[in-house]
Amino acid sequence: MKRRILAIMLGACVTVFVRPVRAEEPIQPIAPAKVTNPALVELGKKLYFDPRLSKSGAISCNSCHNLSLAGTDNLKMSIGDHWQPDPINTPTVLNSRLNLAQFWDGRAKDLKAQAGGPMVNPVEMASTHELVVNVVQSIPAYATEFKGAFGSDGVDIDRVTAAIAAFEETLVTPNSRFDKWLEGDKSALTKTELEGYALFKDSGCVACHNGPGVGGNSFQKMGVVEPYKTSNPAQGRVAVTGDDADRFNFKVPMLRNVELTYPYFHDGEAATLEQAVETMGKLQLGRTFTEEENAKIVAFLKTLTGDQPQIVLPHLPPSTKKTPQPQP
Ligand code: HEM
Ligand code: HEM
Repeated sequence: MKRRILAIMLGACVTVFVRPVRAEEPIQPIAPAKVTNPALVELGKKLYFDPRLSKSGAISCNSCHNLSLAGTDNLKMSIGDHWQPDPINTPTVLNSRLNLAQFWDGRAKDLKAQAGGPMVNPVEMASTHELVVNVVQSIPAYATEFKGAFGSDGVDIDRVTAAIAAFEETLVTPNSRFDKWLEGDKSALTKTELEGYALFKDSGCVACHNGPGVGGNSFQKMGVVEPYKTSNPAQGRVAVTGDDADRFNFKVPMLRNVELTYPYFHDGEAATLEQAVETMGKLQLGRTFTEEENAKIVAFLKTLTGDQPQIVLPHLPPSTKKTPQPQP
């Protein structure tokens, strides 16, 4: 009898832990974008797609953060000015508004602060802020749009980055199957996917990958249990804080749309999700997943793919006689 009571009590505990109320889930649904200034967003979209923001006139934000490819380029290292490879893997811009800070080491505090970087990065767009402003100012249709978006005349780098950031704020991916399940649609996930989610929670992945982005809200060491072996020279967060304790701490990437944003890790070394999950299990948790467990976690991760932003390709206003020429 005692055993039966114990079994029932245990059963009750298991029920409580395996099926927590949705509000207590470590992951929350992504909210749809709220647009307060459509003129600003539309201007930001044009600038995002405009290759004239680069010195060569050939590279736009969309070259590396391709919105046909979930906001990335699926390359280990992006190709920038004069075919130079970037030294670190390109993260997606999708849902980047949810990041606690931008870049792998968090050196930009928000999207606006980040947007000024790539234009002047010699291996990316290789321009200068002065040149970017001169190019934009030389195009009357742009000047008119700036006035409409900001309510007064004037083009400066502050406004250019504000507009790009406003566009990026809209690049969110709600309505994933996982979000539908979180919102109460029990049929949204299969048994295998739910088992994958249980493994993701119970093994401890959620300690770092949590919140609406399933990551993006902390810096953590890559290689907690075992060191990560890589030839990539990036040292992570220590570059920002100077604190040795931050060496090899990277921003935990969001796992939203992760089935689309391969290859993985800051060095782009993991080509597949299976590989990334295996490495995470071993290095972060000291756990070796069976092939079946790995497949279940991967199945769960694929339920995090949301509605991709529907982009109508902008038509960019033409250059004028005053527009500085591209410099190959
Ligand atoms: C990082 C936006 C141009 C390659 C980022 C991030 C954002 C962003 C928001 C941070 C994402 C995160 O930390 O999760 C933009 C915008 C661009 C632009 C608005 C145009 C103005 C480019 C270009 C390239 C590129 C042209 C490739 C040539 C990268 C790389 C990183 C990055 C490698 C990671 C750098 C690091 O963490 O140190 N970008 N990007 N981006 N982007 Fe771009
Ligand atoms: C990266 C999954 C546990 C911290 C990743 C990536 C995946 C992933 C797929 C690659 C994302 C990308 O590059 O876009 C998992 C799974 C886990 C787990 C399935 C459980 C088995 C953890 C834990 C931590 C953590 C517990 C913190 C202690 C990180 C960090 C990165 C990362 C810092 C970036 C590493 C780098 O690029 O160098 N995770 N993760 N993860 N995860 Fe996890």
